[in-house]
Amino acid sequence: MSEDLWTPHALSKAEFPVPEEGEEEAGSVTLIIPTFNEAGNIGELLSRLADSLPAHLPCEVLFVDDSTDDTPAVIEKAALDLPFPVSVLHRERAVGGLGGAVVEGVERADTDWIVVMDADLQHPPHLVPELVGEGERTGADLVVASRYIPGGSRAGLAGSYRIAVSRGATWLTKGLFPRALRGISDPMSGFFAMRRAAVTADALKPLGYKILLELAVRCRPAEVAEVPFVFQDRYCGESKSSAREGMRFLAHLATLRSATPLARMIGFGLIGLSGFVPNLLALWLLTHAGMHYLPAEIAANQAGVLWNFALIETLLFRDRRRHRHWADRIGRFAVLANADLLLRIPLIALFVGRFGMEVLSATALALVATFVLRFAATEALVYLPRKARTRAQTHARTRRTARTTRS
Ligand code: GDD
Ligand code: MN
Repeated sequence: MSEDLWTPHALSKAEFPVPEEGEEEAGSVTLIIPTFNEAGNIGELLSRLADSLPAHLPCEVLFVDDSTDDTPAVIEKAALDLPFPVSVLHRERAVGGLGGAVVEGVERADTDWIVVMDADLQHPPHLVPELVGEGERTGADLVVASRYIPGGSRAGLAGSYRIAVSRGATWLTKGLFPRALRGISDPMSGFFAMRRAAVTADALKPLGYKILLELAVRCRPAEVAEVPFVFQDRYCGESKSSAREGMRFLAHLATLRSATPLARMIGFGLIGLSGFVPNLLALWLLTHAGMHYLPAEIAANQAGVLWNFALIETLLFRDRRRHRHWADRIGRFAVLANADLLLRIPLIALFVGRFGMEVLSATALALVATFVLRFAATEALVYLPRKARTRAQTHARTRRTARTTRS
């Protein structure tokens, strides 16, 4: 389906320039340009690229397009008579948004370098050869066009609100990934060159706008270089980023940060702790509405279960959701989460009945106690059995081998 408009052959018909004598052949480049309704920018973009790309840089342009307007047709028309090959991959479904589009482009690229650039001319096309040149010169795997080093600026970032958001997002991201982002002053940049060989496309699970962050954190390029750039005004049309894109960015950060089992467990614990709030709130509402505290406990627990499920799904296991239907997932989750209620109810009854505690404080105490148990149980059910089984199997095999050897 997504292959509909994929043109494996170059759209442009012009002869490709042959490097002049004395000009050294640089590494080949696929310039990946994600587009979402950018018809008004295509002509200017391609003509500035034609002016900027030197003959000795073998470059092909690949648009990965999720447009609902006539952008693909405009590209096909503008691509005629250009000195470099241009193709369009139009996707029927915009899976992963901007980042997903870039990854689909990367998967199709078989050049030495990939360069990722926006279509709206906020990223100056004349810097494309400089990014690759810097990589070739320094041996870096990743070259980032940065607004935050001398010579760079974010002149085109519209308004103080967007500047504040961009700065806050940069600090937050640098704080969360100090090691992976060492040497990258502008992890929010969408303009960079990366060696194709340094990209492990299988490891990528992009979500929304921040594709450089995804590549830097998951592929860990060994050497990083930066080139300053001035973020320009948009040439035509409007930015496609939105509040929803902001939420996606936070989910992306959480997914990247919780990629290791330890971080995942800590996240799980923190989410579990946060579930006390809706649980206790629902309990307070229900008991004040006159419900007996025991059935109220059961109902209130479901508020906590739903809260935890929603957070765990969006923040921790976003990339593992496809394996099961959502109803199956919530069913299993609810069974596990309520199993500990079975334990908690007699505990609460004991605290209230025997020790005369308040319902709310008894519940809070029981929640903490059973939370620790649930955490251990989850660890045992999710992580240990596999290892234990492997070890048991290994033992069994060793024993069998031993027996065979003996007999
Ligand atoms: N294929 C595809 N699918 N392309 C998309 C999508 C999508 O869902 N959403 C946006 N794009 C394309 C746009 O058409 C444009 O070429 C590019 O991605 C950037 O989108 P803009 O809407 O212009 O983004 P921006 O200007 O707000 O954000 C820019 O600045 C950020 C740093 O402040 C981009 O350069 C970001 O990459 C950068 O992180
Ligand atoms: Mn833009």
